[in-house]
Amino acid sequence: MSTLLQVHDITKVYPNQPKPGLNHVSFDVMQGEFLGIMGASGSGKTTLLNVLSTIDMPTSGNIRMGNIKIQELNQTQAADFRKNNLGFIFQEYFLLDSLTVQENIAVPLTLLRKDAREIDKNVEELAEQFGIASQLRKYPSELSGGQRQRVAAARAMIKHPPLIFADEPTGALDSSSATELLSALSKANHALGTTILMVTHDPYAASYTDRILYFKDGHIISELKRGNRERRSFYEEIMREAAKQDENR
Ligand SMILES: Nc1ncnc2c1ncn2[C@@H]1O[C@H](COP(=O)(O)OP(=O)(O)O)[C@@H](O)[C@H]1O
Ligand SMILES: [Mg+2]
Repeated sequence: MSTLLQVHDITKVYPNQPKPGLNHVSFDVMQGEFLGIMGASGSGKTTLLNVLSTIDMPTSGNIRMGNIKIQELNQTQAADFRKNNLGFIFQEYFLLDSLTVQENIAVPLTLLRKDAREIDKNVEELAEQFGIASQLRKYPSELSGGQRQRVAAARAMIKHPPLIFADEPTGALDSSSATELLSALSKANHALGTTILMVTHDPYAASYTDRILYFKDGHIISELKRGNRERRSFYEEIMREAAKQDENR
């Protein structure tokens, strides 16, 4: 596997805050990897996503994707970088209520003025992948939370960005909807080779990833790898790690 993103010695200091949001963080994200970021509230997870996705600037350190040094991009370049390389999934779905499911998924391509038939074909493929092919003519208000989140995930992937950031994507879902979303993400990760970086505090959601970086006080305190194990066994290890971290707090 080759390296997609190199994170080198990132620190983020917020004004008037005694402790940095991120404190000398280094790691690589491999091409095609499904990487999980865990840690208690306030450990720096959102700060990390913001800095990696060019929404915020690190105070020091550097981040590279291929030849691009992310922290050196100006605002226009950063916006282009996000548009061309990144997809986002949030806890809230951020769908447009006045558009159908089909139109919601298509938005990023419509903005690029792609050919309508090409858009339809792409949307159908992804809707199939995410198990929402029969919902394309409906409006978001007619869908369950789990279906809405899968629409949001399909929209995030419609341009086939090399890297998807997901911040607590299962945070608002019941367990069966969470399972559907996670297995769809995992399938897309395998089928399309999309690299996914997912923040979650939920050990169950984390057990779908290949590897987990555990954050505390703005830095990485441990790394868990799934390897060739069954998801179940990885889940048990994550539960043990989470319990250990709870005790140490
Ligand atoms: N915009 C901000 N201004 C000041 N401090 C912030 C800001 N965002 C986060 N922090 C601080 O940085 C630390 C990490 O926060 P955050 O990245 O939101 O953690 P998490 O997402 O893991 O809950 C916390 O101490 C938080 O108070
Ligand atoms: Mg957060």
